[in-house]
Amino acid sequence: MKNFPKLLIVLLAVTALASCADKKPATLAEAFKGKFTIGATLNKGVYSGTDTAAANLVIRQFSSITAENCMKQENIQPEKGKFYWDEAEAFVSFGEKYDKEIIGHNLVWHSQMARWFAFEDGAKFEFIPGQRPVFPPYCSKEEFLERMHDHITTLVSHFKGRVDVWEVCNEILEDDGTFRKSPYYNILGEEFVYLAFQWAHEADPDARLYLNDYNMHIPAKVDTYVRLVKELQSRGLRVDAVGMQEHLDINNPTVEEFETSLNKIAATGVKVYITEWDMSALPNPYLMSAEITNRFEYTPETDPYKEGLSAEQSKLWNNRVQSFVECYLKHADVIDRWTQWGTTDATSWKNGFPIHGRTDYPLLFDRACQPKPVVNWIIANAQKF
Ligand code: G3I
Repeated sequence: MKNFPKLLIVLLAVTALASCADKKPATLAEAFKGKFTIGATLNKGVYSGTDTAAANLVIRQFSSITAENCMKQENIQPEKGKFYWDEAEAFVSFGEKYDKEIIGHNLVWHSQMARWFAFEDGAKFEFIPGQRPVFPPYCSKEEFLERMHDHITTLVSHFKGRVDVWEVCNEILEDDGTFRKSPYYNILGEEFVYLAFQWAHEADPDARLYLNDYNMHIPAKVDTYVRLVKELQSRGLRVDAVGMQEHLDINNPTVEEFETSLNKIAATGVKVYITEWDMSALPNPYLMSAEITNRFEYTPETDPYKEGLSAEQSKLWNNRVQSFVECYLKHADVIDRWTQWGTTDATSWKNGFPIHGRTDYPLLFDRACQPKPVVNWIIANAQKF
């Protein structure tokens, strides 16, 4: 009888330990623990707290966050030498408050460049509707180098030790594996890649750095990225990963195509980040791309699920996502992060691309912030892989 309380305590402790060991994941973040981080991309509504439902979803389900727009050049340095930090600060503070891995998007991108960035000071832009824009002359190479150095150094130093990962170069190649003829390339040639990585690393030596692009299943494209990674490595520059955006549609690409590209990247010794994942549920007879200049006309036939996804299409979508996730889990030693581009279907960019005004269902959580069936499958099964 004297030993009873002691016995009881031991019994209670054993029961508590056993129930801890049995604890099943309840969220995506828990499901992927020990495998890779799971990310969402945040718009202003989420990190500023006005979209509380989406913010709560991110806080609970995700372990990593990416800036959807607030760190892009035209937003952060719209005028020469004038940096607007408020939104990016709000984004980073959100990540710090809720202990998320923080991803900076991006340092070099031909799109959403600040208008002044590549051109002579005071250059005039004339956009006449229906005509091809005629751009003013570029600034000198020396001036462009200075602007590029200043932008990267100021942005990365400002968030030194706070942003974990920087996407250094975004969408710098065409699908055929040649360089996109952006101002960066036109003025500096391929050297802009190496300079960008060098300057980002100098500004924050602890930040992880990566290249990022869409349509990475195309062999010619991924092969050039492999060459660029090897070139960065041979120059002794830090490169941690290649980002495969993975804007998928309901038919393309195949899991095998994804896996082939992943294996090519892994063979260089760097990691793979799945950086902008979504899977459109809508018909897409056009092309599979995130090239945002591609637009098509709206017709009711292009928007068949305005009132809700059919059971058949929903099944197709969930099954297809599951087969990709099985592949991600199989390669968890190579994949460091899987980020979906957005938080819920309600605010996904896919509702407006490549046709304005459609109703798409591309993300893991629906318009009411509820998990799709595949999310429940992941939560129940990811740790078994
Ligand atoms: O913030 C303004 C708002 O003030 C204005 O009233 C409104 C009117 O159009 O525009 C708002 O800005 C829009 C912004 O999204 C925020 O909603 C821009 O016009 C619009 O161009 C911008 O689109 C973003 C696009 O990149 C271009 O930067 C999308 O949200 C964003 O999801 C998309 O993300 C890109 C990645 O950065 C790179 N990879 C492809 C991916 C999808 O295109």
